[in-house]
Amino acid sequence: MPRLLVTGGAGFIGANFVHYWLKEHPADRLVVLDALTYAGNLASLTPAEGNPLYRFVKGDIGDQALVERLLVEEALDTVVNFAAESHVDRSIAGPDPFVTTNVVGTHALLKAARGVWLEGPLAGRPHRFHHVSTDEVYGSLGPDDPPFTETTPYAPNSPYSASKAASDHLVRAYHHTYGLSVTTSNCSNNYGPYQFPEKLIPLVLINILHGRPLPIYGDGRNIRDWLYVEDHCRGIELILQQGRAGGVYNIGGNNEWTNIDIVRYLCGIVDALLADDPTLAARFPAAPPSRGGSAESLITFVKDRAGHDRRYAIDPTRSREELGYQPQESFASGIAKTVEWYLSHEPWWRAVMDGSYRQWLREQYGA
Ligand code: NAD
Ligand code: DAU
Repeated sequence: MPRLLVTGGAGFIGANFVHYWLKEHPADRLVVLDALTYAGNLASLTPAEGNPLYRFVKGDIGDQALVERLLVEEALDTVVNFAAESHVDRSIAGPDPFVTTNVVGTHALLKAARGVWLEGPLAGRPHRFHHVSTDEVYGSLGPDDPPFTETTPYAPNSPYSASKAASDHLVRAYHHTYGLSVTTSNCSNNYGPYQFPEKLIPLVLINILHGRPLPIYGDGRNIRDWLYVEDHCRGIELILQQGRAGGVYNIGGNNEWTNIDIVRYLCGIVDALLADDPTLAARFPAAPPSRGGSAESLITFVKDRAGHDRRYAIDPTRSREELGYQPQESFASGIAKTVEWYLSHEPWWRAVMDGSYRQWLREQYGA
């Protein structure tokens, strides 16, 4: 039975992974370590509360002593490292926390794993350090370039992707030099429940509901390769179960969209939902479709992101051939689930957005 430390488990993908793992592996011990930055949200972990095999610890991956203590006292054999500063725009505005958490923090985590699993009290037992990374480390593709493979040279362009690239190199080095059993996944853009509304899809959804502008950077023709978050979790599960020590695996959905097309697609879905459901329209009176208009009227082209990568696309051949990986969610079904989730979890995103999250938690859960 694996005994997992999931770092960053109160964030978007981490929380989805916690719920996925507890559902699929109900006998496994799972400890979440999360610093609860602005992006971490304990309410995203509410469904796990009460499960005796789940434990939440508030703390920083940079706190090596804390991580060592947790690995030993819980006899943990697996780390899944989601903890990171993850938003490109924030990395452009202020790169320091990206270096602190993504580079120095990941290194502290590696030192703790090495200390406990290779040299300390749990030495000699099987272990696995899985590092969750991104396709952004490979840089930007031209329109006719083949998608990224695991051997595409690293060419990170933002402080965020540079910090993730640095952490990937440290993970690789700890395997090559010390023999730590590591795996790394580089995944494309995720969407789904619990995503912080600074990222494109939840931001557009929530802005439509408020009748606020939908900001499109530059010409809107930048391309991302979108994957439903649970398909990412499934890919990590396969890597933990079957991945080679030292192995790197790309995870993606063969699902490239320009930003403007994806925003128009979302507008169409919300238009139809609000037009068909007077109760929903009454809940969101500022949304144009509630008044007979279209959400597309809110689309606003704005100044481009500095250094904005033009296109990402993942070639998932290795994951498919070595692990049997195949995404299960179509884009239409994944987006439908996502829109439904945001419409039915208004308190979650309102609390995240207006800063009254802690107050809301107290009211909802008596925490
Ligand atoms: P997120 O920003 O939603 O969540 C990050 C979580 O990490 C938060 O809960 C935060 O509190 C926690 N955290 C931050 N600094 C910490 C620290 N020093 N110690 C402990 N916890 C800390 O991020 P996400 O979108 O869920 O991304 C998770 C991981 O997946 C990241 O490593 C990211 O690079 C990678 N990734 C994300 C995507 C995507 O589309 N979102 C795609 C590919 C890879
Ligand atoms: O590719 C994987 C990466 O995907 C992850 O490593 C990152 O953690 C994650 O944040 C995401 O990065 P992006 O920069 O691609 O995601 P974001 O949602 O910020 O933007 C998606 C695209 O939409 C991008 O081309 C910028 C554009 N955009 C974004 C926002 C927030 C807009 O046009 N307007 C916006 O308001």
